[in-house]
Amino acid sequence: MVAYAAERGITVIPEIDLPGHMVAALAAYPELGCTGGPYEVWTRWGVAKDILCAGNEQVFTFLETVLTELMDIFPSEYIHVGGDECFGGDAEPNRPDPWDVCPKCAARMKALGIRKGPAAKHYLQNYVTARVQTFLNGHGRKIIGWDEILQGDLAKGATVMSWRGVQGGIEAASKGFDAIMTPNGFCYFDFYQTQERDKEPFGIGGDLPLEKVYSYEPFEGIAPEAEDHILGVQANLWTEYIATPEHLEYMLLPRMCALSEVQWCAADKKDYARFNASLDHTFEILDAMGMNYSLDCRGLIGLDRQSARTPEEMEEYLSKKDWGW
Ligand code: ACM
Ligand code: ZN
Repeated sequence: MVAYAAERGITVIPEIDLPGHMVAALAAYPELGCTGGPYEVWTRWGVAKDILCAGNEQVFTFLETVLTELMDIFPSEYIHVGGDECFGGDAEPNRPDPWDVCPKCAARMKALGIRKGPAAKHYLQNYVTARVQTFLNGHGRKIIGWDEILQGDLAKGATVMSWRGVQGGIEAASKGFDAIMTPNGFCYFDFYQTQERDKEPFGIGGDLPLEKVYSYEPFEGIAPEAEDHILGVQANLWTEYIATPEHLEYMLLPRMCALSEVQWCAADKKDYARFNASLDHTFEILDAMGMNYSLDCRGLIGLDRQSARTPEEMEEYLSKKDWGW
């Protein structure tokens, strides 16, 4: 995959999300969690309470081993280390975050001089991020992390991916960090494309029509002297509910064409009517490539290149539920 992408001028950046979103690793190595488990691999998406224990040295050995293997495979300058959704897991609302009650994490906080209180765990996360960052920097790599890594006191040199809206990117750039903008209101392509969800292939929620993607302006709210810190935009297409390439392409196209213009077109040259008209030609190219795409922007809600074209045929097509979920 890395070679295939490289031949096309694309660098694949891997992400090992840490210290949260680690339940699968904890199921395999329960000693790496604060409670010792047992843990079970999740079969649904969500935010888990159980994360890697920041007070356990074995965790860092584990991470360095995994990241070393990762660096062998991926030559990218950047390695994404996640950092999102470590606290407040939604499946067990009444259980405290393990880092708030774990003796090993408490001992680590004490050794680091982190003051007790609600922000303590954010500073402990900073410690984990910075330790992994130092390790990766030592191998000539840089880190990217989700905007939660800004909470507390982020070490210099990290790049922040702003996903919970634009605020993380604005704050990062103003503090001298590089940022990549992928705000969920504009860049989450697992969202539906219209409000008529019953007619559309399955999405995770939201409402992100093509025109809204196109309207995104990544420099908005960024001071002119901080604009250089905005490295670009990114679409996130999480695939919890996407089992087939056709469904994935439906979610991706033509919204990716809109985000491409957001990336490379100066704000004063953007023009949705011009862009929308140009899609007729884009669709011919996509047809020739055999790619699937959404025709919501042509008023054909839920229709795609590969589906039946009459309402009756569309009904039958959707009733087959061959999107694979
Ligand atoms: C994210 O969508 N949790 C980064
Ligand atoms: Zn712990």
